Amino acid sequence: MNTIPLLQVALDYTSLPQALVMASLVAPEVDIIEIGTPLCKAAGLEAIEAMREICPDKLILADFKTPDVGGLEATMAFDAGADMITVIGGAALATVEQAYEVARDRGKEMLMELTGVRDILARAAEWRRIGVDRVVYHREWDAQSAGREWEESDKITIRQLIDMGYKVTITGGLTIDLLPFFADIPASVLICGRYIRENPDPRGIARQMRLAINELWSGTPSYVPSSRVNAPTVDTAAKAIRWGVSELGLLLTIDGRDCPGCNAPDRFCRGSKTDVRIPRGVDQQQFVRQLIASMPGESQAIGTDSPGSFYLDVGALSQMNEQTVLGLLSATSVALQKVGQPANIRAAMAVAHEILSE
Ligand code: 5RP
Repeated sequence: MNTIPLLQVALDYTSLPQALVMASLVAPEVDIIEIGTPLCKAAGLEAIEAMREICPDKLILADFKTPDVGGLEATMAFDAGADMITVIGGAALATVEQAYEVARDRGKEMLMELTGVRDILARAAEWRRIGVDRVVYHREWDAQSAGREWEESDKITIRQLIDMGYKVTITGGLTIDLLPFFADIPASVLICGRYIRENPDPRGIARQMRLAINELWSGTPSYVPSSRVNAPTVDTAAKAIRWGVSELGLLLTIDGRDCPGCNAPDRFCRGSKTDVRIPRGVDQQQFVRQLIASMPGESQAIGTDSPGSFYLDVGALSQMNEQTVLGLLSATSVALQKVGQPANIRAAMAVAHEILSE
C-alpha cells in the first residue's frame, strides 16, 4: 500500500489573530499546522504557544529556517510547543548538528530547508551522515513569481533524496491541479499555503486537497460533504461573539449593567454591538489599542462607548463572514494575553464556530 502524504497548511501571516482564525478553520482537515516564517518573525514564540493552545492535537511546525545558533532556536521552539522546526540548508554543519541533536533528544523533528541550496545532493549526503532524515524541497515564492515552474528534474532530485533515506516534504505554490504531477512520488508531506488561505472557503479547499491526496496516493476515491459555513446574519454573528467573549472569561455588559445571558428572557444585549467589561486592573486605552492593532483593517468594529468597557461590532466588519467574526474573538484573546490576562481561546473559537455552523 502506498504511503499517503500528510497535508500541512502554511500560515504565512504577519498577524497572529489572523493566523489563529485560519488554524481553527482548517485544523480538522490538515495534519500539520505550519507557523510560517513571516509569522515566526512577527509573533515569535507567542505564535507557537497560541497555536498549541488552539490546536492541541495537531503537529505544529515552526518554520524558523534557522541559519545559526541551531541548538538554542530548536530548544526555544520545542519549549514553546512546536513538534517540528526547519533549519536553512545554507547553515553550517555545526548548526545542523546542534539543532538535530536537540530534536532527536526530545523526540521531535528537524527538517532541512532546501531553499537556496545549489548542491542539494552533496549537502544532503553530509546531513544524512549526521542522522538528519527530513528535507523540505521548495519552489520559493520569489522564484515562482519570477516564472519558475515545477519540472521533471525536480522529481528526479526528490526521488534521489528519498533513495538516500530522506522523508521529503514538497512545497511551493501547490494547488489541487498540481497534485497529479507529484502523485508517483512517495512524498512524506505536502505543504499548501496561499492556495488554502486565499480561497473564499479555506476549510472546503483544504478538505478537497485532503481528498485529492487520498485518492491520488491510494487509488481509492472518497467523498466527504462540504463543511462550508454560509455567511452569517448579523444576529448570528453577534451571538457567536457574545458566547465567544463569555468563554474568554469576559463579562458582557451594557450601560454598566451585567448581561443576564443570551438565552435569558430579559436579555438586553441586542443588535450588532457587543459591549464587554474590561477586566479589573487593565487599562482601557491600552487594551483597546492592543485589540485594534491585533485586527488590521477592522478598527471600525472595535471601540469604546463608556468607561470600563469596550465593544465589538460585527455590523462594522469589512466583510460578514466566518473568518472576520472569528477574527474579532481571536484578536480579543491575543490582546488579553498581551495585557497579562488569561484567555481560553480554544473554547471561545469552538463555541463561536458551533453557533456560526448552526
Ligand atoms: C515560503 C514558505 C511557504 O510556507 C511555502 O512556500 C508554502 O506556501 P505556498 O503554498 O503559499 O507556496 O515557506 O518560503
